[in-house]
Amino acid sequence: MSKNMTSRIPGFHTMSVEERLAKLAELTDLDQDAVAHFANTGNLEAGTADRMIENVIGTMNIPIGVATNLIIDGRETLVPMATEESSVVAAVCNAAKQCRAAGGIATGTSGSLMIAQVQLVGVSDPENARFKILERRDDIRAICDETDPVLLKHGGGYKDLEVRVLETADGPMVITHLIVDTRDAMGANAVNSMAEAVGPKIAEWTGGRVFLRILSNLADRRLARARAVWPVDEIGGPDVRDGMLSAFRFADADPYRAATHNKGIMNGVSAVVLATGNDTRAIEAGAHAYAARTGRYRSLTKWECDADGNLVGSLEIPLAVGLVGGATKVHPTAQAALRIMGVGTADELSRIVAAVGLAQNFAALKVLATSGVQKGHMALHAKNIAVMAGAEGDEVDALADRMRELGKIRVDVAEELLGELRAGKR
Ligand code: MEV
Repeated sequence: MSKNMTSRIPGFHTMSVEERLAKLAELTDLDQDAVAHFANTGNLEAGTADRMIENVIGTMNIPIGVATNLIIDGRETLVPMATEESSVVAAVCNAAKQCRAAGGIATGTSGSLMIAQVQLVGVSDPENARFKILERRDDIRAICDETDPVLLKHGGGYKDLEVRVLETADGPMVITHLIVDTRDAMGANAVNSMAEAVGPKIAEWTGGRVFLRILSNLADRRLARARAVWPVDEIGGPDVRDGMLSAFRFADADPYRAATHNKGIMNGVSAVVLATGNDTRAIEAGAHAYAARTGRYRSLTKWECDADGNLVGSLEIPLAVGLVGGATKVHPTAQAALRIMGVGTADELSRIVAAVGLAQNFAALKVLATSGVQKGHMALHAKNIAVMAGAEGDEVDALADRMRELGKIRVDVAEELLGELRAGKR
């Protein structure tokens, strides 16, 4: 570390990307190769990146793979997935292939309603305050409509009002929910603006104090649903089906297992959400909160056996994704990803995301109930180890195969084998 090292860099945010990199090279161990690496922002222009977030010095490329074999609502659909995790894309391809004979995946949504919360404290008569707010329904609608006339023009905007008295460690709080149809927008900006506009009026009408005015990521009025039948013969027979059903029941009964089970679903969900420039954290927070809505953290999917003995899966998940605004609009990769899927509305996108989540879960349950995950992982792991040992081209597969035969997947073994291989070649 340089002797000049300090994290206090006045004006860092006003510098250009180039200047920031030069500054970092001065302060840290960043050498010129690393500076050049960061300066290559790939297919996201540095200026665009610089306008997306603060203090930009580069970009982080994540592979995008395309999931094949999907039939969603009768339409052949190709889905780009951005993920750093191996096997995720292949898993969706496999799962989708096995339900094609039964028509693929059917989807639906509950609509595009988002919730914004306004927190009111310091009223000694919370029930009375609640009624006072409810009586202002028309005023609240007018404030919201005025805040976002564009949304209104597109058929969205304020739809409903809910007011709850919440018991907290600080005594009762009065929580107003603005229910807003955000159409093709994820909606955070729209509903936050509305909550901020309505907040002072709620304080005025009730005599209390308003603190938080922010959306809820528990978007339980913006659910996407996916369901599919996997014919028992396609999946390997009744034993495989029963193992998968047992795996689901385990997850549904045990939060320790449900966390991993739902993580697997999010492998697919987040990959599509990221490829389209949407907010992965918002979706993940909403999904996990929804999984705990009964008071116990449970599986987001449900698995059953139909009258013909086939395996039937369903997934219901809050999916607040948008097409207009944010990174989705400005990131060229996100725009291209949407073109691959051929989606024209946020509703369509959310349905594809749910379909991928369901397929991902099918694949995970199947591999877990049969061979286990390590066999597939080890094949890829062996290739990575071979590359780490310096293997190139054909050497990678040759080394990976040999290490698997030996049952020893380690860098030192790979180095030794590489030496032998190259000596043999000379
Ligand atoms: C790994 O990223 C995902 C799985 O652990 C999911 C699961 O256990 O269901 C395979």
